[in-house]
Amino acid sequence: MSRNIVTIILAAGLGKRMKSGLAKVLHPVAGKPMFLYPVRVAEEISSAKIIAVVGHQADRVLDALAGRNVEIALQAEQKGTADAVRTGMDSLKDYKGTVVILCGDVPLITSETIKHLLAVHDEEKASVTVLTTEVEDPSGYGRIVRNPDGLIARIVEDRDADDSIKQIREVNTGIYAFDSRLLSSIVYEIRSENSQKEFYLTDSIEVCRKKGLRVSAYKTSGTDEVMGINSRIELARAEGIMRRRINNRYMLNGVTFVNPEAVYIDMDVSIGRDVTIYPGTVIQGNTAIGDRSIIYSNNRIVNSRIGVGVTIKDSCVVEDSVIGDGSQVGPFAHLRPGVVLGRDVRVGNYVELKKSVMGDGSKANHLTYLGDAEIGSSVNIGAGTITCNYDGQGKYKTIIGDGVFIGSDVQLVAPVKVGDGAFVAAGSTVTKDVPPGALAISRVEQENREGWVEERKKKNKKQ
Ligand code: UD1
Ligand code: CA
Repeated sequence: MSRNIVTIILAAGLGKRMKSGLAKVLHPVAGKPMFLYPVRVAEEISSAKIIAVVGHQADRVLDALAGRNVEIALQAEQKGTADAVRTGMDSLKDYKGTVVILCGDVPLITSETIKHLLAVHDEEKASVTVLTTEVEDPSGYGRIVRNPDGLIARIVEDRDADDSIKQIREVNTGIYAFDSRLLSSIVYEIRSENSQKEFYLTDSIEVCRKKGLRVSAYKTSGTDEVMGINSRIELARAEGIMRRRINNRYMLNGVTFVNPEAVYIDMDVSIGRDVTIYPGTVIQGNTAIGDRSIIYSNNRIVNSRIGVGVTIKDSCVVEDSVIGDGSQVGPFAHLRPGVVLGRDVRVGNYVELKKSVMGDGSKANHLTYLGDAEIGSSVNIGAGTITCNYDGQGKYKTIIGDGVFIGSDVQLVAPVKVGDGAFVAAGSTVTKDVPPGALAISRVEQENREGWVEERKKKNKKQ
């Protein structure tokens, strides 16, 4: 495409209809604040500059933009979409080219559609081109009123529409391409004579018409894409559409979903080939999953790196952790933040790990808590082993060398070290460091009293 493009993203409103303490554009869709999707589109159409008009909870909107090349324009008071654009245009006084207007509450829009809009805008040498669409239920949207010759005459907001205009099913998507110089003058000519006493950007169409300028429209058939989110019902619909899009992308890249409708994967997750994912699984944040892994039902995996050929059995929670190639986790395991499992590690039923490392080939198969532990390779952790890492004040480390065998039901009272190749007998409470190759045993010796049960019975009869 030929030109200079600047994108303004309108994201200052509160969104009253969401009935929320959180500004509408910050509500997540597939795990990301919804306004970041139009920001991405602006990046994809290679805008020379991206300006976000912010207002409500501006600081949080700013946080969400960290690391991105987006300029901020603060609209202190939300006086309508035309006022928002005026705010955005403040830093564009000398700019000549095209301004694309996107809405922070229209997250499903794609760059393909904007490229089409720009192509029409160019071809028709228009002053403004509106992106429109036809919907089954146009309520809430601005209606596109066309002249008998088919040319677009004006846009009438739902609130200001009479019954005949309300019948029109072609609606304004709130997305436009404008000639920059025209836009910077026209936004000052718009008046707030309407039911909401707001400055409507939609009035720019009629203003242009009156000036004899060329107004075009590009009607897209991608109705889902241009859906504006105003309520939680629309939010849930957008979420569903976005998830379907994401899951389709993975399936096309070689991921099997046993039931794609029941898998919830955030936008920024990456998944390798021949991965199989069962229903009920939620994968969030910056998680990456290597080739040939199997994720069974009802797992939640957050900001974690899962290696190649990993198996995660049912009902695990994995947070901010790393699982090495070929390892197996679950069922019912909890990897809390800071866990690093090497290759071919086994973490089994009802095992909880926190801020712990397990070296290659190590195993903790049953009923165990390992916190602040550094565990070498080829270590066997017996059932019921517990690191006592907390004394009510501080957290202490347990260090276990390579090839160690920890028997069942052992308590390791940290800080404590078990040297390479050592053996800790079942039922021991380890309070002192164990030298390499040693046996540590700390349990009361067993005493067997012959005939004790019979004696007790006799005693009971006498009484
Ligand atoms: C707007 C359009 C409507 C269109 C619909 C499509 C106007 C007057 N109406 O209506 O024709 O069919 O979008 O979704 O333009 N915003 C600001 N500052 C403000 C007001 C709004 O930044 O002062 C932002 C909001 O945060 C939002 C976007 O502009 O992201 C649209 O505002 P909203 O109030 O949702 O407009 P709609 O009533 O949906
Ligand atoms: Ca809206």
